[in-house]
Amino acid sequence: MTATMTALFGGAAPQWQTRQIPVPEPGPGQVLVRARAVSLNNADVQQLDSSFAPATGKKTEYLAGYEFAGDIAATGPGADSVHIGDRVMGTTQGAFAQYVLADHRHVMPIPESLGHDEACALPTGLLTEHGALTRARFRTGQSVLITGATSSIGLTGVQTAKALGASLVIATTRSKAKEALLKKAGADTVIVTDGPDLTQAALDATGGEGVDVVLDHVGGQTFANCLPATRVDGHVVNIGRLDGPQSTIDLDALSYRHLHVRGVSFGFGRPEALGRVVAAAVDDVMPAVADGRIRPVIDSVHAFDQAHEAADRMRGHQAHGKIILTVP
Ligand SMILES: NC(=O)c1ccc[n+]([C@@H]2O[C@H](COP(=O)([O-])OP(=O)(O)OC[C@H]3O[C@@H](n4cnc5c(N)ncnc54)[C@H](OP(=O)(O)O)[C@@H]3O)[C@@H](O)[C@H]2O)c1
Repeated sequence: MTATMTALFGGAAPQWQTRQIPVPEPGPGQVLVRARAVSLNNADVQQLDSSFAPATGKKTEYLAGYEFAGDIAATGPGADSVHIGDRVMGTTQGAFAQYVLADHRHVMPIPESLGHDEACALPTGLLTEHGALTRARFRTGQSVLITGATSSIGLTGVQTAKALGASLVIATTRSKAKEALLKKAGADTVIVTDGPDLTQAALDATGGEGVDVVLDHVGGQTFANCLPATRVDGHVVNIGRLDGPQSTIDLDALSYRHLHVRGVSFGFGRPEALGRVVAAAVDDVMPAVADGRIRPVIDSVHAFDQAHEAADRMRGHQAHGKIILTVP
């Protein structure tokens, strides 16, 4: 192992900058992963854009990235769930580097059928979408409405719900051009809208009853439009706020339908709590990843030193799937 490594830093300029920094040592409960590929999440560009604001003098430098795939290079004391050489994918802050430190509970084994480029596209989507379905007490045979379903984690949500036996998956996008992408991922019904007609379209698709479970990635008024599209005693889980965190809801829809509403934000919980979410996802959905029922949907693969292209693509909401960086 070399003493220094290449890593991507945000906060010093409008785009990520490559730097040479010391390879870190894993502490108690940590693993050091030689990353081979990493993938972008919406949070990466949000953080990049908010960390560099020269007009206000704000420049907060940080090691970028949240999601990676690679090989275990070293383990710290107590990190005994993995071994050196194991192929793993996982989540941590500071993932855009040749060597990545992670909590040993926050990595998952990579099935043999997947390469590193594919594997790095999955962990955040798997743990978030499975975690949200679990919070919604999803059961085989239920119907699921997924808003903002073309988002990188939403696409994994469509596949995960189908793999776990959803009878009907309804997926939303604002773009007619992305309808085929959602059908290919397994959506039974695609609603092209971000307006109030979402409610009627979801009711029409469920014989007027509404869906059992909503996984909402959009927030804003889309969240409010989901409530009257949910059946009596159904569950609505807010995962993302792509259209903003404010929503004016109809309390009649909430009360008359006896809805269960909750939010999830797995990356900002306690490490042991995230470890339990990861472990449950591994148990329940890894067989479906191994046999191809859940497949990473890759938009594009970029060189590490061309990361600015990847960030621009993410900002423009052009991607049809995950945006990947190969690690040198
Ligand atoms: N709760 C958690 O633990 C957790 C974990 C990870 C991510 N998240 C959140 O989940 C959301 C999705 O993350 P991601 O990384 O998968 O996102 P992403 O890939 O950047 O999502 C992009 C897609 O979202 C849709 N979109 C963007 N702005 C929108 C708007 N104003 N209204 C409606 N749709 C919009 C667009 O789809 P169309 O063009 O097809 O409409 C776009 O292609 C984010 O809000 C993120 O912060 C939450």
